[in-house]
Amino acid sequence: MSDAVVAAQRISRVFPMPAGPVVAVCDVTLTVAAGEHIAIRGPSGCGKSTLLHMLGCVDAPSSGTLVFDRRDVSTLDDRARSLLRLRHIGFVFQRFFLLPMLTAAENVELPQAEAGAPKRERRARSLELLAYVGLGARADHRPAQLSGGEMQRVAIARALANRPRLLLADEPTGELDQTTGEQVAALLDRVNADGTALVIVTHDPVLASRARRVLTMRDGRIDHEAAR
Ligand SMILES: Nc1ncnc2c1ncn2[C@@H]1O[C@H](COP(=O)(O)OP(=O)(O)O)[C@@H](O)[C@H]1O
Ligand SMILES: [Mg+2]
Repeated sequence: MSDAVVAAQRISRVFPMPAGPVVAVCDVTLTVAAGEHIAIRGPSGCGKSTLLHMLGCVDAPSSGTLVFDRRDVSTLDDRARSLLRLRHIGFVFQRFFLLPMLTAAENVELPQAEAGAPKRERRARSLELLAYVGLGARADHRPAQLSGGEMQRVAIARALANRPRLLLADEPTGELDQTTGEQVAALLDRVNADGTALVIVTHDPVLASRARRVLTMRDGRIDHEAAR
């Protein structure tokens, strides 16, 4: 499995709560190979976001092992884990999470700045990415001056800024109408075709049907897998 981007072996996530522990993810084994395209479906509360956060090294499993790029993530300290995330993983969220005071280009530059890329290189890279997502003419717009679909495309450009091996998207079309949702879906397809492994959590059957593997979760477990 040398080409695995991330391999989860029997991972679980339990949240200790006053009313008793909540088992959000239970005993999931999943390997994401380089360049794969996976969709995760399932009812609200079944553990999709929690699983995605663990695959993205944002949250750590309560038990089980998670290997990213041949590194056992549980052996990394916080700083090493955030560096790994910054360099190798991109995240896209339902609500975009762009910084409102920054322009589209500045939002895309941010992760590059955190990774230490020089200013001129950052600017060139962010303009190239905005052109890639079809927003070359919106570089100087702030989020409030963009439509929902445009904001999500800027967020995708930002997620790609440091050339991640893995892009994780949590309900990326959840706030969009059908037409803009389809544009975002087509863009994500292109990102995957250009070589980035993609894991998308979605309620949208059309978006899920574009993936090569569709996993269905229920009560914290993957209870069905379909391949196309
Ligand atoms: N930080 C948290 N603390 C406590 N419980 C949580 C936390 N995050 C998620 N949960 C619980 O874990 C379960 C799975 O949540 P989540 O992964 O967000 O589901 P989904 O994304 O499929 O809707 C839910 O019961 C939720 O209430
Ligand atoms: Mg969720």
